[in-house]
Amino acid sequence: MVNLPAKERKAKYVQDTFNSIARNYDLMNTLMTFGLDKSWRRLAVKRAELPKGGTGLDVCCGTGKLTIEQARAAGPAGKITGLDFSENMLEVARQNIRDFELRDSIQFIKGDAMDLPFEDNTFHCATVGWGLRNVPDIFKVVQEMVRVVKPGGKVVSLDMAQPEIPVFREFYWLCFNRVIPAMGKLCSGNKKAYKYLFNSAKGFVHQKELAGIFAEAGLLETRYLNLCGGVVAIVEGRKPATC
Ligand SMILES: C[S@@+](CC[C@H](N)C(=O)[O-])C[C@H]1O[C@@H](n2cnc3c(N)ncnc32)[C@H](O)[C@@H]1O
Repeated sequence: MVNLPAKERKAKYVQDTFNSIARNYDLMNTLMTFGLDKSWRRLAVKRAELPKGGTGLDVCCGTGKLTIEQARAAGPAGKITGLDFSENMLEVARQNIRDFELRDSIQFIKGDAMDLPFEDNTFHCATVGWGLRNVPDIFKVVQEMVRVVKPGGKVVSLDMAQPEIPVFREFYWLCFNRVIPAMGKLCSGNKKAYKYLFNSAKGFVHQKELAGIFAEAGLLETRYLNLCGGVVAIVEGRKPATC
């Protein structure tokens, strides 16, 4: 691993990390977000404007929670694909939809967000939840999402963000740094993985900058929406109708 180029090293590290925490990921997610992640996911999917019976892609789908929200939005005639490169996260995703009434409209596939295995203009929308800060090249992944979305379709990211209110921001990072790794140790015995989550969140681009990356990748109507004072943000854009 030491001899791998930096991007591949990061991808391997991230893949190993998520493989190691897959079993406890959903529990930790609920605890860390006080259960708010469900409503954030719903809002992100609403922003994606997936039509009934539409085809949706959820990149870095992990345990499939955002994929499931897409399936709900598209209804029984929808076709939703969740893609992730962690076999263990996908395994949990498959378990998560076992009793879900719309499970037949979902497929989970193993793949790399940096090189999506789909034709151009395939999906009505593409979402990514807490994924972009984990990939080796954000611009490349956004470009790939733009490529596979149909003209006029939306690309939406839901991720950790940079709180904008000064005192709250300092307090938030202090708590995140102390509490989350400790909780990770308690729930999964893996403090290091949750320390990584803190570092990746703190080092992630500001939501305004991410909206700029969306625009650079060719999206129109780019904007960001802060949730909970900017602890989390939805960043979105629309592929031009003619391109
Ligand atoms: C924090 S989890 C988010 C999971 C899920 N989207 C959610 O909303 O809870 C990040 C996921 O991104 C996946 N991932 C990171 N880099 C990836 C890549 N290059 N290709 C595919 N999946 C990737 C990881 O395996 C992990 O499952």
